[in-house]
Amino acid sequence: MNTQFTFGATQLRLHRWPLTQPNHSLQAWDAADELILEQALPLCASLQASQQTPVRVLILNDAFGALSCAIGSATPGSTLQHLVQDSVLSQLACRHNRAQNTLPSNEIIELNSLDPLPENPQLVLFKLPANHSYLAFQLAALSKVLTPQSTLLVAAKAKDINRNVLALFTQFIGPTQASLTIKKCRYIETTFQAALARPQLNFPLRWPLDDSHFTLVNHANVFAREKLDIGARFFLQHLPRVAAGSTVIDLGCGNGVLSLQLLQQQPDCHLVLCDESYMAVASAHASIAENLPTQMAQCQFVADDCLTQQADNSADWVICNPPFHQQTAVTTHIASQMFRDAKRVLKTGGRLRIVANRHLPYRLQLEKLFGHCQQLAANPKFVILESIKRS
Ligand SMILES: C[S@@+](CC[C@H](N)C(=O)[O-])C[C@H]1O[C@@H](n2cnc3c(N)ncnc32)[C@H](O)[C@@H]1O
Repeated sequence: MNTQFTFGATQLRLHRWPLTQPNHSLQAWDAADELILEQALPLCASLQASQQTPVRVLILNDAFGALSCAIGSATPGSTLQHLVQDSVLSQLACRHNRAQNTLPSNEIIELNSLDPLPENPQLVLFKLPANHSYLAFQLAALSKVLTPQSTLLVAAKAKDINRNVLALFTQFIGPTQASLTIKKCRYIETTFQAALARPQLNFPLRWPLDDSHFTLVNHANVFAREKLDIGARFFLQHLPRVAAGSTVIDLGCGNGVLSLQLLQQQPDCHLVLCDESYMAVASAHASIAENLPTQMAQCQFVADDCLTQQADNSADWVICNPPFHQQTAVTTHIASQMFRDAKRVLKTGGRLRIVANRHLPYRLQLEKLFGHCQQLAANPKFVILESIKRS
């Protein structure tokens, strides 16, 4: 993997997270980062020259910390950066990359996607999120804290900037246009207008789960926020019958749909709902709180990279509908890490049950890892697989 990021006089080593990546052509920054930095670095330097206090920089969706590290390295000690991320993996990448480039942690304030944004930022560096609901959510939040003195720098791959994206900027920020294409990317040039009739957003979305009396709660960046995922629909028909008192981990819990049904089937179990997305964890928390409030005390909600925070040999079951992409890259390495973590945290005799797209090579992986894997059910698109941890 290319880890040497050179930008003007700035030299950084930047890694993606997790550090072991099967696809060596991927790197921790892209041309849109470079476009943003081309404007941000001189601006930061001139603000720094004209004030005694640190320049207030707000950075949104910096996937692996390239923007934060470059700003910190080019203008050492002279910024206060608020970093907004929905992803625990992005936070871990940013911390790792700052540490390995010996950048101080005291110029960073980490915020998650549901935290209020800081008032009156001087410079906002905005990487476009792939999901337009989340884009609208972030633009609405930004419109409350920007001032006419704030500079908003936005860039993305040209293919990701379409009419809908520009319309959202126009509705929430003000007059907007896209620049010409440079290195397959474009700037979004937008002017903040304080007096603008902005649309009302209805996040979190709530919708009824078919064949149940449950309502699922969905924040703007949670997986399958508008309707039930078809893999999850199949999994709901094949959830395990767990014994009373069992500890079950819902790994990659999303809006908590699998846990809700499991808790209904076995009201006397302990559930750990984990996801790397803060909005997923908040959605799952709200889904359980609103539908099964008396069972909240049996549930723990954790924002985590797979099961890093869970103890070895602690769970009877892990259920999982694994992800098959990270950011915009299609990958199975997160699922592989989930399976390894599941094996570690399961007690002897504990079971991992997953739903998987038929074409993915999970059966082979589970057979290698656990020594066996049973296919419990199948439909034309999905399979239900189970492995038991033997001593
Ligand atoms: C296919 S979705 C399943 C969501 C939900 N369980 C369902 O069935 O609708 C996969 C979930 O895994 C989460 N995820 C991705 N990478 C993760 C990681 N490294 N650690 C924990 N969760 C992760 C995603 O945020 C997403 O919510």
